[in-house]
Amino acid sequence: MKGLHVVGVSHAYGDNRVLDNASLMIPAGEVVCLLGPSGSGKTTLLRLAAGLERLQKGRIVIDEKVVADEDHHVPPEHRGIGLMFQDYALFPHLNVLDNVSFGLFGQAQNQARRRAMDMLDQVGMAHHAENHPHMLSGGQQQRVALARALAPEPKVLLLDEPFSGLDTNLRGEIREETLAVLKASGVATVMVTHDPEEAMFMADRIKILGHNGTILQSGRPHEIYYHPRHEFVAKLFGMMNRFESVVENGHVEIPLGRIAAKSLDDGCPVEVLVRPEGVTLKSDGGERSGAGAPVDVTSTHLLGHDNIVRVRLGGDEDNGKELYVRVHHAFEPELSKRITAGLDPDYAFIFSLDENGEESGQKTLNEAQPTRPKAAE
Ligand SMILES: Nc1ncnc2c1ncn2[C@@H]1O[C@H](COP(=O)(O)OP(=O)(O)O)[C@@H](O)[C@H]1O
Ligand SMILES: [Mg+2]
Repeated sequence: MKGLHVVGVSHAYGDNRVLDNASLMIPAGEVVCLLGPSGSGKTTLLRLAAGLERLQKGRIVIDEKVVADEDHHVPPEHRGIGLMFQDYALFPHLNVLDNVSFGLFGQAQNQARRRAMDMLDQVGMAHHAENHPHMLSGGQQQRVALARALAPEPKVLLLDEPFSGLDTNLRGEIREETLAVLKASGVATVMVTHDPEEAMFMADRIKILGHNGTILQSGRPHEIYYHPRHEFVAKLFGMMNRFESVVENGHVEIPLGRIAAKSLDDGCPVEVLVRPEGVTLKSDGGERSGAGAPVDVTSTHLLGHDNIVRVRLGGDEDNGKELYVRVHHAFEPELSKRITAGLDPDYAFIFSLDENGEESGQKTLNEAQPTRPKAAE
């Protein structure tokens, strides 16, 4: 298959084992995001794929050609890869056009310049061709770095935190432009990031790395968000409301409602994580089904596109427990007013707790089974 194939790669710096038998496949035409905490080995993985770091164990294959294993090391410039790192690494003494044509050393000069101008045009930087990098803003430097990485028509593009140097407003815009350029080029792209929202926006597929470089879960953004298979993955996207309960008759009961838990045995202690948008608020004081719990509103925070409402449960067992609720529409309940909090099971995830009541961590966990059919995807 065309693209990048990393097979059973392990890597250590001295005694520090950073990657342990990591494998991944990035097919041509796809943007794959590696999402993981700082220090999880993301940059190391990219450097190994690029050939900037000697491979210790495993195999790197690009378009079905082995470019590195324990005995072989194809140098970076012969791997057909494009690279873009966080700091862009433009050559300060070269103008924009020369920066972009730098990697086209195999071509006749006028042909290389034509190709470089074409790439600059694609990223909207043709009118800066004669400028030097220090004359450009961060966003403009990012565009030039992207043009430089793509100019030699690489088989694989490796991006390491490519937007982290940009401020929030610009980041959104550049992200969108970059994605359009990547899709038009059809190159297999690996983008490393520690920003879950960025991964959700950019990726055809997301691979979540745990602390030792192992892949905890891989899937389309929708799967990662709605079917997290690990507590760690569920918690990546921010605040969660947490409850503990026990499976009874294939169900788990929390104050907000009942959730089916078919794949767990009765009597199994569980934790239930509910996303802030999975808590539904009703001001009419009672649903037809009688489901839900009375709550007091303690505060509301308008975030712009939606509200975060804090409510306090009033029941005996969970007296005083605070919940975070995300409300998309302009629902601003009055403070201290009694309302009912219910549950959207699509946003609730059940994970088994082991005998000691501790989280079972990164072992196989069970997903919540929604009690109502899901909308077609
Ligand atoms: N050149 C190096 N020499 C020694 N240790 C390194 C080197 N590069 C990275 N490390 C260590 O390897 C681990 C993973 O680093 P890195 O691959 O940069 O992770 P990430 O990009 O996910 O933050 C860290 O503990 C880091 O300190
Ligand atoms: Mg890094």
